[in-house]
Amino acid sequence: MTVWSTPAYDDHELVVHHRDHSSGLHAIVAIHARHERRGAGGCRMRAYASEEEALADVLRLSRAMSYKAAIAGVAAGGAKSVIVGDPRHDKSEQLLRAMGRLIESLGGAYVSAPDAGIDVDDLRVMCQETRYVLGADRVAGPSAPYTAMGVLAAIRSAVRHRLGADELAGVRVALQGVGSVGRELARLLAEAGASIVVADVDDDRARGAARDYGAEVASTDEILLADVDVVAPNAYGGVLDVDTIPRLRAAIVCGAANNQLAEDGHAVLLHERGILYVPDYVANAGGMIAGLEELGAFDRAVTEQRVRGIGGKVDELLTRAEAEGAPPAAIANRAATATIEAWRSSRARTVSA
Ligand code: NAI
Repeated sequence: MTVWSTPAYDDHELVVHHRDHSSGLHAIVAIHARHERRGAGGCRMRAYASEEEALADVLRLSRAMSYKAAIAGVAAGGAKSVIVGDPRHDKSEQLLRAMGRLIESLGGAYVSAPDAGIDVDDLRVMCQETRYVLGADRVAGPSAPYTAMGVLAAIRSAVRHRLGADELAGVRVALQGVGSVGRELARLLAEAGASIVVADVDDDRARGAARDYGAEVASTDEILLADVDVVAPNAYGGVLDVDTIPRLRAAIVCGAANNQLAEDGHAVLLHERGILYVPDYVANAGGMIAGLEELGAFDRAVTEQRVRGIGGKVDELLTRAEAEGAPPAAIANRAATATIEAWRSSRARTVSA
């Protein structure tokens, strides 16, 4: 399979496939669309089963970042990178520094940040080789708390629309994955009085959330299908598919994981079942918003206000979706692609002027 024929290719501006033999780094950087001269998006490390799987993941994630940036209105387009390898066994200083050099070599066209398998400590190592990394504790700090703050705002809005409740007290939420974002989301939900159930392939993390936030622990096989009001996927993408969607019992799906839908068309299946799916890239933009605020004069209070503003965006989106009788994802996709087109044509005008 070539890059161009990959279904997720979708008009990417740049795809770089890199191997560094001395460190063993095997990475792909994908820039879907630049805005303000850059594409921004995290770096993920995962033990992909094949090169095709890694390529499909980075392309889908990169496009999702463009959609996220377009809806959030930040000073960047969308990009992403993946490192092929198991973050528990294959990570080394040499490998992270090689990744930093790869990012630096792109001259700022790609700005990186943390993602699953790559945390703030790893970013600090990459920072020894590159200036183009956000969220490495320099100003805004780690992105996960902002992402969780934005997802909470999105859940509040969805609960108001779908369940008619202004408060989260007593609302039952299932969290798939309690890593950097999921654990913080569990904390915020517990603070708001929600009743939570968690599952994580890492037992210690699930038990830690249960101990600290009074959560129930469920099995990782059952968590998406839990009898709750809201399901929040916070692990990997592709979890909403033809197998899981018919069996969901929640009224709302709203979480942090990127690309929760196995295929774009699955938004229609959720809509037909009367399940309110908040597009992941709308709900999970908090980390990106905070990261990019670092490029200006960072003010924490202003940043937090912008991140909480995700709730207002979700309100608008759901109101339009209700008026049109369409899945919210269809409305959001339309708005995002129009903005990306506008970036591209304004760049084309600048270049030809
Ligand atoms: P993380 O790696 O810290 O947490 C992921 C957690 O999910 C881990 O605890 C892992 O053990 C668990 N997990 C993996 N497979 C699972 C399964 N099948 N069932 C239950 N648990 C499972 O990653 P992080 O940073 O919390 O990100 C989570 C998701 O949110 C990812 O999809 C990421 O792309 C997305 N995201 C993260 C942002 C951030 O600011 N960190 C921003 C926007 C999206």
